[in-house]
Amino acid sequence: MPTTGPSARISLDNERTIAPISPLLFGGFAEHMGRCVYGGLYDPGSAQADERGFRRDVQAALREMGISVLRYPGGNFLSGYHWRDGVGPREQRPRRRDLAWQSIETNQFGTDEFLAYCKTIGAAPMLGVNLGTGTIEEAGALVEYCNAPSGTATADMRVANGHPEPYGVRYWCLGNEMDGPWQIGHLDAHAYAVKAREAAKIMRWHDPAIKLILCGSSHTEMPSYPEWDRVVLEHCWDQVDYLALHYYATNYDNDTASYLASAAQFERQVDTLAGLLRFMQGRLRSRHSVKLSWDEWNVWYKDRSGRGNWQEAPPLSEEQYNLEDALVVAQWLNVFLRRCDVLEIACLAQVVNTIAPLTTRGDALLRQTTFYPFVMVSRHAAGVALSPLVAAPELETARYGPQPLLDVAASYAADSDRGAVFIVNRSQSEPLTAEIAWRGVAPQRASTIIRLAGSHVRAANSFEQPDTIVPRQLPGGPIHDGRLTLELPPLSFTVVATEGYR
Ligand code: AHR
Repeated sequence: MPTTGPSARISLDNERTIAPISPLLFGGFAEHMGRCVYGGLYDPGSAQADERGFRRDVQAALREMGISVLRYPGGNFLSGYHWRDGVGPREQRPRRRDLAWQSIETNQFGTDEFLAYCKTIGAAPMLGVNLGTGTIEEAGALVEYCNAPSGTATADMRVANGHPEPYGVRYWCLGNEMDGPWQIGHLDAHAYAVKAREAAKIMRWHDPAIKLILCGSSHTEMPSYPEWDRVVLEHCWDQVDYLALHYYATNYDNDTASYLASAAQFERQVDTLAGLLRFMQGRLRSRHSVKLSWDEWNVWYKDRSGRGNWQEAPPLSEEQYNLEDALVVAQWLNVFLRRCDVLEIACLAQVVNTIAPLTTRGDALLRQTTFYPFVMVSRHAAGVALSPLVAAPELETARYGPQPLLDVAASYAADSDRGAVFIVNRSQSEPLTAEIAWRGVAPQRASTIIRLAGSHVRAANSFEQPDTIVPRQLPGGPIHDGRLTLELPPLSFTVVATEGYR
């Protein structure tokens, strides 16, 4: 290895596995908030619209991201939403005040449009039921509307709306962030647990095949975290399959070193909740297991606008992403791989315009910096996650103490005989020479190396300069004796795709 500058070593062993990688870790979230649905997914006046009013450019970008599951319709919006408003003939659908975002909801896009949208982009739908102003009857009826065979009044509404066959929606959220005082119809943990358990019961009676996601804490800074999670799990354990967690990363204090070590925060949150799940399973002497659904995650702090001034689809929280945000997103995806033993679902919040990697302006579409790490990981991570051993120099951070300069995850798919190593170099100034060493079975070739990098943490893409931060493809090449040496530039995310394991 070259001896100039700092160096690091990444050791991999195909037998040191973590767990199978759930494809649902590459999900997204679409809320009736700002211009996510109207002007994002659905934009009938646009030259980009297909015959249903769905933007073709956004569909193509979501397919490029490999969005595997799409959560809908909220978010805070969910807690005031009555799904019957959004089905049936469009001209009869009511205009309503959406109290969550102080916007006007036209209901031109609802459950059937959402399910058609998911089908078009090849994503599994994840629907939420309103446990704020909604009733448990309304929750059960939505399952009936979507999943029951024809022959009852509610299922026949679906048939009348043009969908004779049940949709078979599998993933269902029991409300949204019900721990938050900002939530319409916020409840304390006990009251929520009782309501969620009863809703779950009814929903499962309509369709026993569904998977249910319980509201966990909306943030680690909530005073009730993680006690809320303990209480609701204790009441609902047998009725649910997933506990939801949410988190939005921030860099308000402009402390890039700490911000670039955000994986420490993400891992800690997973650790706490994974421990709680094990505790609860032991305490309840249960054979049932509950996994984690990180169904809202993203960077969100530069534009927190949330008051729509009673406009239709006002621009809200149209965050602009830069290089450091993209490197935080890359680490988040690495954490999903490293913790796929307990994390099975994750939804990037949100997918377009509102806190999103995609922004529309007129008929144009911008891919922001955070779009790329998502694509780089969703395309290459498959099979099982491997547990990498990383020996790297450390960097001192105010928020998390000393942290390694490299953040690493890895995967191997036996069926395609392809592997991948995902490496963030957190250094703001130093290139780092890294040796990747495979023990035992090792790849013979790097099929490709893809890198996202830049020289300034604030560098961003814009409609005028859309290619400021885009990945570059570097040549692959042979790997000799299970060892590959790479030069990792500062502020970079590199994916090494490998093949030909022997
Ligand atoms: O994604 C934006 C909002 O953030 C969601 O509506 C809410 O669940 C969270 O607080």
